[in-house]
Amino acid sequence: VPASTETPCAWLAGPPAPAVRAHASHKGSYGDVAVIGGEGLQARGMGMTGAALLAASAALHAGAGRVMVALLDAGALPALPQQPEVMLRRWDALALDHATVVCGCGGGAAVAAVLPDVLQQSARLVLDADALNAVAADPHLQHLLRERGRQGRPTVLTPHPLEAARLLAGTTAAVQADRLAAARTLAGQYGCTVLLKGSGSVIAAPGRTPLINPTGNARLATGGTGDVLAGLVGARLAAEPAQADAAFAAAGRACWEHGAAADRWPAGRSLTAGALAHSLNAG
Ligand code: APR
Ligand code: MG
Repeated sequence: VPASTETPCAWLAGPPAPAVRAHASHKGSYGDVAVIGGEGLQARGMGMTGAALLAASAALHAGAGRVMVALLDAGALPALPQQPEVMLRRWDALALDHATVVCGCGGGAAVAAVLPDVLQQSARLVLDADALNAVAADPHLQHLLRERGRQGRPTVLTPHPLEAARLLAGTTAAVQADRLAAARTLAGQYGCTVLLKGSGSVIAAPGRTPLINPTGNARLATGGTGDVLAGLVGARLAAEPAQADAAFAAAGRACWEHGAAADRWPAGRSLTAGALAHSLNAG
């Protein structure tokens, strides 16, 4: 863990054993996860919906009650109906005020247009990749994100080091030189939970001692594992009680589980993001 810092921190401890599902529970008991992202024909000249579908698959395998996907590009179609459990929706047909929203796994520039509504209306929110880049580029979105923090609404940012550098208007090298400080600064700026990814992911939130995740390994260094993490955070956040600490708890738990899934990967079998999503356990 590169950390030239005096910041107090702790190792993230393992998640509690999964709760037994009450016999009389139903899919509403485990929360709705709505993934907004994807980009398609108009964005890149090719269907590029993989990121959103990976996040949705992760949420589904992690035990979310219902999983919806809204692909932002009108020309986008899912590559294959590999995941028939996932419901496709128009983004403006999602019940944002009810769902746990995972936004920015793909979506390109189109994400910026939906973020004002997403930031103001989502009950619980995970922002990744293209959503983080849109926030970094737009002071109005930054204001709306801070407002969420002031209102105590659960929000998790999941930047990799370059995304964190954009949000901090700094360099990746500076983020990596003091990962604890970078995560803490971002968490303080926006009043939300920050999960700074990479070897030794850091989870920080205002007023909390930052945690370093001990699970995971370099087999995760393959495209799409970040999207799987975003969906997993969404599933865990959807199942948390709606209170101030929900985002920090969900981010820590998901980060541990994501790394642990890679640590138990069979030797000699390559790790792909899709297979990682399938290997997740219900919480
Ligand atoms: N040790 C532990 N965990 C790791 C390691 C490592 N050596 N390498 C990667 N990981 C984990 C990270 O902590 C994170 O959870 O794998 C995940 C990678 O997430 P991202 O960096 O978001 O990568 P992803 O989005 O899946 O794919 C890369 O991001 O910058 C874009 O365009 C770029 O297509 C590329 C995409
Ligand atoms: Mg990513």
